[in-house]
Amino acid sequence: MTNVELIDRSKLPRHIAIIMDGNGRWAKERGKLRVFGHKRGVDSVRDVLEGAVEIGVPYLTLYTFSAENWNRPKLEVAALMELLVSSIGKETKRLMANGVKLNAIGNLDLLPAKALAHLKQCMEETASNTKCTLTLALSYSSRWEIADAAKKIAQSVQQGLLKADDIDEALFAQHLNSYPLPDPELMIRTSGEQRISNYLLWQLAYAELYFTSKLWPDFRRDDLYAAIVEFQNRERRFGLTSEQLK
Ligand code: IPE
Ligand code: IPE
Ligand code: MG
Repeated sequence: MTNVELIDRSKLPRHIAIIMDGNGRWAKERGKLRVFGHKRGVDSVRDVLEGAVEIGVPYLTLYTFSAENWNRPKLEVAALMELLVSSIGKETKRLMANGVKLNAIGNLDLLPAKALAHLKQCMEETASNTKCTLTLALSYSSRWEIADAAKKIAQSVQQGLLKADDIDEALFAQHLNSYPLPDPELMIRTSGEQRISNYLLWQLAYAELYFTSKLWPDFRRDDLYAAIVEFQNRERRFGLTSEQLK
């Protein structure tokens, strides 16, 4: 049986988060500039997104550009921002055809005005689509997101809108930039690296982690399906014993 046939559609993860890593190495292996890898990575995004829509995964979140990535060489950062603009422009039609709503998390104020304008435009155009929410983590840092939530809560307490005693996990989560997305149940990282790199630290508390050595430009929907099959074969115990789950 193929991976897609092995998937139990009644037990799909509702939210899959991906760290799309390895574009630079993919290009280097071919003697090309890193940007070439980023460009080919867009093909993977398209295929994986359509694969997710096809089986009915309602939330997909992609680590597209981290806060730390601003420190890369200026030329690479500029090329990535240009790619963001051109990809959004080219893909909006397909997002509409696939019923995908575009969303973004991260410190978007740091994006170049042109990239932000394209992003907002696409988000508005796709706002009423309901099949799948595609969230791009852009200029994103999970510690920034958590500190920002703490700041907003502190301000509300200061203004007398909240009491310190009201603060619990649910209220904290409501102040995260990712709210109201459900927590990801499956987190995939490509390229063989086994780290979180400041991604969704709060939200991944109980996610299943899946690492593959495939580089992002080689990753396709069948690889996504393989990750989902493995996810479905794991026993998620949430602190209980195996016997309690039966
Ligand atoms: C991921 O690929 C894309 C971004 C971080 C923007 P990399 O650019 O990190 O590729 P490697 O890890 O250097 O191969
Ligand atoms: C994480 O990848 C960020 C994105 C995929 C956008 P990096 O390649 O930047 O992370 P590190 O440097 O390996 O931790
Ligand atoms: Mg990398």
